[in-house]
Amino acid sequence: MNKNTVIYILIVSLFFLSCERNLNTNNSKSDISYKVDSLMNLMTLQEKIGQTVIYSGDWSVTGPVISSDNLKHLKEGNLGAMFNVFSAKKTREFQKIALEETRLGIPLLFGYDVIHGFRTIFPINLGHASSWDIDDIQNGARISATEASAEGIHWTFAPMIDIGRDPRWGRISEGAGEDVFLTSEIAKAYVKGFQGNDLSEPNTILACAKHFVGYGAAQGGRDYHTVNMGLDELKNVYLPPFKAAVDAGVETFMTAFNELNGVPATANKFIFKDILRDKWKFKGFVVTDYTAINELVQHGFAENEKHATELAIKAGIDQDMMSSAYRLFLEELVDEGKVDEELINDACQRILIAKYKLGLFDDPYKYCDEDREEEIIYKPEFLEAARKSAAISSVLLKNDKDALPLDKNETIALIGPLVKDKEHIIGNWAAAGDRNGKAISIYQGVRAVLDDVNIFYTKGCDIESKDKSGFTEAIKLAKRADKIVLVMGEDHNMSGEAASRTNIKIPGIQTELIKTLRKEVPNKKIILILMNGRPLDLSEEDILADAILEIWFPGTIGGYGVADVLFGAYNPSGKLPVTFPRSVGQVPIYYNVKNTGRPIPKENPAEDYKSNYIDSPNSPLYPFGHGLSYTTFDYSNIELSANSIGVSDILTASVTITNSGKYDGHEVVQLYIHDKVGSKTRPIKELKGFKKIFIKKGENKTVNFQLTSEDLKFFNGEKFISEPGEFEIAIASTSDFSFTKSFKLKP
Ligand code: NOJ
Repeated sequence: MNKNTVIYILIVSLFFLSCERNLNTNNSKSDISYKVDSLMNLMTLQEKIGQTVIYSGDWSVTGPVISSDNLKHLKEGNLGAMFNVFSAKKTREFQKIALEETRLGIPLLFGYDVIHGFRTIFPINLGHASSWDIDDIQNGARISATEASAEGIHWTFAPMIDIGRDPRWGRISEGAGEDVFLTSEIAKAYVKGFQGNDLSEPNTILACAKHFVGYGAAQGGRDYHTVNMGLDELKNVYLPPFKAAVDAGVETFMTAFNELNGVPATANKFIFKDILRDKWKFKGFVVTDYTAINELVQHGFAENEKHATELAIKAGIDQDMMSSAYRLFLEELVDEGKVDEELINDACQRILIAKYKLGLFDDPYKYCDEDREEEIIYKPEFLEAARKSAAISSVLLKNDKDALPLDKNETIALIGPLVKDKEHIIGNWAAAGDRNGKAISIYQGVRAVLDDVNIFYTKGCDIESKDKSGFTEAIKLAKRADKIVLVMGEDHNMSGEAASRTNIKIPGIQTELIKTLRKEVPNKKIILILMNGRPLDLSEEDILADAILEIWFPGTIGGYGVADVLFGAYNPSGKLPVTFPRSVGQVPIYYNVKNTGRPIPKENPAEDYKSNYIDSPNSPLYPFGHGLSYTTFDYSNIELSANSIGVSDILTASVTITNSGKYDGHEVVQLYIHDKVGSKTRPIKELKGFKKIFIKKGENKTVNFQLTSEDLKFFNGEKFISEPGEFEIAIASTSDFSFTKSFKLKP
């Protein structure tokens, strides 16, 4: 060891000793900035660039390994973060390399797509959004973070809070649906759940608001496709959930794959600099989506990858996921004077701050504790929580003549390709969730309630194949049973990334099987349980089935949670966070539309030269906010505290809700407004509040909402304002209602 090396090691050790002392006593923001600055003083430009690089681990039969290339980059200090690597053991191994074999020993950051659970899988996000239960969603994220952090993960690439109004788009399954207000509330819940109250706690992880921005508006519902959108729609609809995430303290953002009005998001200064940094004052770091810098070339926005690198860093993008562009070109661009070194300093600083906040400089192995991992994963209380989430996320779309709940004394023919499924039930993006092993099928859920002799099971058909050989047995069993319960839907790979569909019907010959059963066994009730990752066109099934229960992909304990609903242990309370169209031809369809100059007259919906279709009603099959219960809730005494309010006043809207049916139950009470005249036209309905309440049968409750002029604001092309004038207001159990009340906002 030469003299210089000894001096260097001394300086670094003293530095880390002082960091540790400071971190133990005071972890304040300025303290962290001071430490990051001191560390950065020791770093070469190349090492700073290294922090801006994230690569995926490669998988082998036994788990994640690191390719020889990545290992080389890591050891040379050219790798600051990894993803798709987990388990306390594996992350410790890689962390050890970062600490002991790199010049400065800066700990690695481990990211992963913890989207709707880590090991214990909750319903897919669109499903969980159907619960409208903000506490439950936050709790699900908390549990996911607890499990993920016990397996070495510091950072999740979630929540995905892209507004989704096109069921053809496979990734609609990952978001919270079509509505701005609901998605914003859910965005906050995920951020708080993942990040907890204190990031330095070992069971908290960084959240990542993605995909910034407009990804859900891809043309034709085709993944990664072009997005053209006016400023008003961007600011009123697509941006607010991200602003909510920033307000909730989200630490990271991910770029979207799409272009927005001609500028790919990953090089879009307007959204990342002007809005995210300058307007919203976001202080965390921004990661690209997978190879999104390279893709700037395909978009036709950059001449080559070097040019793409320049554009991305100048747009304020801090970390390069998988493109290798920052690693290969940033230093050269600085040498050539094309990129200001300060941009790299900023990016590196933001990433290091996140590592400090997590406490990784204090104890780089705090997330790699094998005993903790053993104790935490699949804890019984987590599984119990997942069961509850599955139950409360199920949406009863139809229930003629009380076909549901099932009676424990009835026999049922349990038919369909997803009855015994343990693979699809946990859905897409199921992180480290165990398909087949831990998952509870619908069959198991039903079997836990009914004796074997009362269940006649057959598969009937596959999800996709055209083989009808199972129909005969299905008919035979259906004839023997009291009721026919079908479990059908999509394969989990039919939604998620790169899974857009032009046909949004139930795939294969499943509907044909329902038709056959309806014909052959005409007098028996058919109950259709649906597993799917998007709104489907259920126009045929709505006629064929007596009851339809939308369970989405309900997660690890889905079978038990759904059985709770089927047999009435839990009275369904889910409400659709997204509209179900009558046909794909109505898409995009959402409740929050504008009126047009020629709206359809209620008295004569078929009137010519109105904004209607000649072959279909405009209305959807099942509207946003729709969801039935086994009981009935009556809304009465809707009252406003005033007929008009000033800009600083509070308006209280109240309603009495009576449970007039036979079961106790939860109801999601929804508040909508309509700004009747605006300097820019406003949607005919806007959700502005909701409350989920529990009412025992025969009892009633009064629910109050408070509104201020803040809630009436919209972006008018220049700024967010509330405009004086008349507002209609309603409190309802679905978005399908007519306004009867109004108030005025005074100038
Ligand atoms: C691509 C997806 O678009 C993004 O959502 C995800 O986080 C990354 N891949 C990493 O897996």
